[in-house]
Amino acid sequence: MATTTTTAISETLRQWRAVQGDEASLKRDLVSTEEAVPALGAGEVLVKIRAAALNFTEPMILGGTFPTPAPRVVPCSGMAGDIIAVGEGVTSLKIGDRVSAGRLLAFLEGFPTGQMYGSSSSMARDGMLAEYKVLPAESLVTLPEHLTYEEASTLSCVGVTAFNCILGGPRKVQKGETVLILGTGGISLAAAQFARAVGAEVIFTPSSDAKIAQLKEMGYSKVINYKTHPEWNTEVLKLTNGRGVQHVVENGGMGSLARSIGSCEMGCWAHMTGFLDEPSTTSNVSYAAIMRSVVLRGVFCGPATLFREMNAFISENRLRPVLDKVFEFDQAKKAYEYLGSRGASGDKLGKVVIRVTEDGAVVARAETKRCINNHGFELARNHLCQICALCCPGRVSEPAERERGRLDAHFCAHDAQPVCF
Ligand SMILES: NC(=O)c1ccc[n+]([C@@H]2O[C@H](COP(=O)([O-])OP(=O)(O)OC[C@H]3O[C@@H](n4cnc5c(N)ncnc54)[C@H](OP(=O)(O)O)[C@@H]3O)[C@@H](O)[C@H]2O)c1
Repeated sequence: MATTTTTAISETLRQWRAVQGDEASLKRDLVSTEEAVPALGAGEVLVKIRAAALNFTEPMILGGTFPTPAPRVVPCSGMAGDIIAVGEGVTSLKIGDRVSAGRLLAFLEGFPTGQMYGSSSSMARDGMLAEYKVLPAESLVTLPEHLTYEEASTLSCVGVTAFNCILGGPRKVQKGETVLILGTGGISLAAAQFARAVGAEVIFTPSSDAKIAQLKEMGYSKVINYKTHPEWNTEVLKLTNGRGVQHVVENGGMGSLARSIGSCEMGCWAHMTGFLDEPSTTSNVSYAAIMRSVVLRGVFCGPATLFREMNAFISENRLRPVLDKVFEFDQAKKAYEYLGSRGASGDKLGKVVIRVTEDGAVVARAETKRCINNHGFELARNHLCQICALCCPGRVSEPAERERGRLDAHFCAHDAQPVCF
């Protein structure tokens, strides 16, 4: 098959596989393998993976509590990388594009169908914890320019799910509305950013005071510790002067749903994403939903069309996903251990990500890049456009990122607003 590439491509790749060793047990070991880089077909591209994000179910796959049909699956559904070769017929993307893909590769628009579940990365098919991946071009989306690969890798699963809750449904969150967000995980933090960006109020329910302190630092002042306030729905009503919220991002499932509904205004929408609090209390859920005329809306990730919409929204509002810790590719096992133990300690916020790039040049995708404020200059990496420099002397980019050599794109650091038009 004819392909286009400008780079010498390695014939082999390193990847991690979650291998089921013992048929009697569903537990798996994370095993490093070296395999041939697959051939590139028509309509496909070869992506050099730069970062892969760990999601809630990844440690469960290793622990055998979230079975997947593939006995030697490559884990991680979230990724960000660079296109290094394109197959025949690919016109929408080119070499050098920074890209990602949603968890269901075949979920391109509308609603998911049963057949699409077979395209679920790190479940039915191999995921992204690999140096290279051949992927269908139609599944890929280009990344917001201002995000690092590590940040962008978190968007594939929790990002697009959160965006689907806030702005993907038939009833989008509006300015001035209040959104109740359960827990403080990846979906919750992303949903809060999207809700705040449209001008909605957010109420969080974290489990610890340590998390409350971090949320307050991020500017979220309405928080209820659901451990110390087991009847947290009453507290939500107090915070909304008895009115209730207009949307709930429902991560808990049957154990929390009745209280979520009890936190609602009449006609509210509950966006059902997770099952963190299953299965203890199932009583009164139907009755509660009826009495508040609540619309229960199942949300399963989101299509590529919505992913593109989300990336435009992220760029426009200069949002950045919250990261907790980044591990190197060789430390994948440590990343899993960390995520597992972190769940128990319960005081950390943000995503755990694995940096896949071996040379550490996470952002060196090109020798030059364009000024992010569209001033038309081609810039050497980490350099400032002349017009931005005039407008923003001394206020350029983030020093910490620059020191780590991971500055993705320079920008005028006026709280994310381009100032030089
Ligand atoms: N629908 C979809 O397409 C989709 C996509 C991705 C994930 N999910 C599911 O959505 C859920 C959240 O995923 P995630 O990636 O955001 O998880 P995550 O990043 O691993 O975070 C989980 C968070 O949930 C909170 N939590 C734990 N027990 C809770 C409870 N009983 N009630 C409320 N919150 C609780 C914890 O915060 P606190 O300690 O503050 O409680 C924890 O930080 C999971 O069930 C996951 O499988 C669904």
